[in-house]
Amino acid sequence: MGWGNLLQSNASSKMLMNMVLRRLGNKKKIAHKIYSLFPAHSVYIEPFFGAGGMFFNKPRAKHNILNDNDEEVHNLFWVLQRNHSELLEIAKQAVQHESLFTHWKKNKETTPVLRAMRFLYLSNYSFMGKMDTLKIGPTHSHQIMLDAIEKTSSMLEGVVFTKGCFRDMFRKINFPEHQKIVIYCDPPYLDTDNNYQAGFCKQDVIDLFDLLQQYDYPFYYSEFNHPFIVEQAKERSLDIITIGERQSLKNRSTEIVVTNHPVWSNSLFGGGV
Ligand SMILES: C[S@@+](CC[C@H](N)C(=O)[O-])C[C@H]1O[C@@H](n2cnc3c(N)ncnc32)[C@H](O)[C@@H]1O
Repeated sequence: MGWGNLLQSNASSKMLMNMVLRRLGNKKKIAHKIYSLFPAHSVYIEPFFGAGGMFFNKPRAKHNILNDNDEEVHNLFWVLQRNHSELLEIAKQAVQHESLFTHWKKNKETTPVLRAMRFLYLSNYSFMGKMDTLKIGPTHSHQIMLDAIEKTSSMLEGVVFTKGCFRDMFRKINFPEHQKIVIYCDPPYLDTDNNYQAGFCKQDVIDLFDLLQQYDYPFYYSEFNHPFIVEQAKERSLDIITIGERQSLKNRSTEIVVTNHPVWSNSLFGGGV
């Protein structure tokens, strides 16, 4: 049976979701806490976008520069920006079903829209987003995906979304003068198994801190309280802010933000967006 024949159940739920891609480790639940640390800004830069748990749950800045080195993540958001209506039409037919899941697990797609749909489907409808086993969610989860496609595509209007390693992204940016810039970094946790293409090693952490300190705009770096991160923060005289306890894949850890711009200094930074 062709997957196109698997017609959508007529779900009535109109629940709107800010996030289209469901991934473990996204920052949706703590976005408000982290955002409350940011000074007023007109330029928002996020080099490790993932599912956009922060971006989609914070007020939009005037200018937004986003990045991820994962081809599938980049393609999905590229399609949402440029061709969301075609994605929506295909998504309407892509209900949760074993045969469609198996089909996409075995077969890759080549056109950007179908590739985006496959990635979304396997990520959102699999256990822990591992793209391995079909997870049947609540009956309205299909409608939630459709609503989220509409909503996130409009939130991405005018946004610059690049693909590549954070090092290249920083090299490419022509940092605008006279603008209030905030950089938010949420790389893969150090020493943690994850679903991303590549993990993050100690040298990546060092390079990222070096770059962030070189530019010296207010930055916020999310991590667990890993001893190496804490040590780096102390050596570099950066502030560590505790966000709360968080359950990772294997254990509970304390989620922190390392910053060069603690909240008390926001009044010095000046208001207005
Ligand atoms: C923890 S996730 C970001 C989650 C995101 N903050 C959210 O709330 O959904 C980290 C992301 O960084 C990307 N990534 C990993 N290594 C990278 C690198 N060297 N440069 C840029 N992006 C990278 C991964 O593909 C992944 O999507």
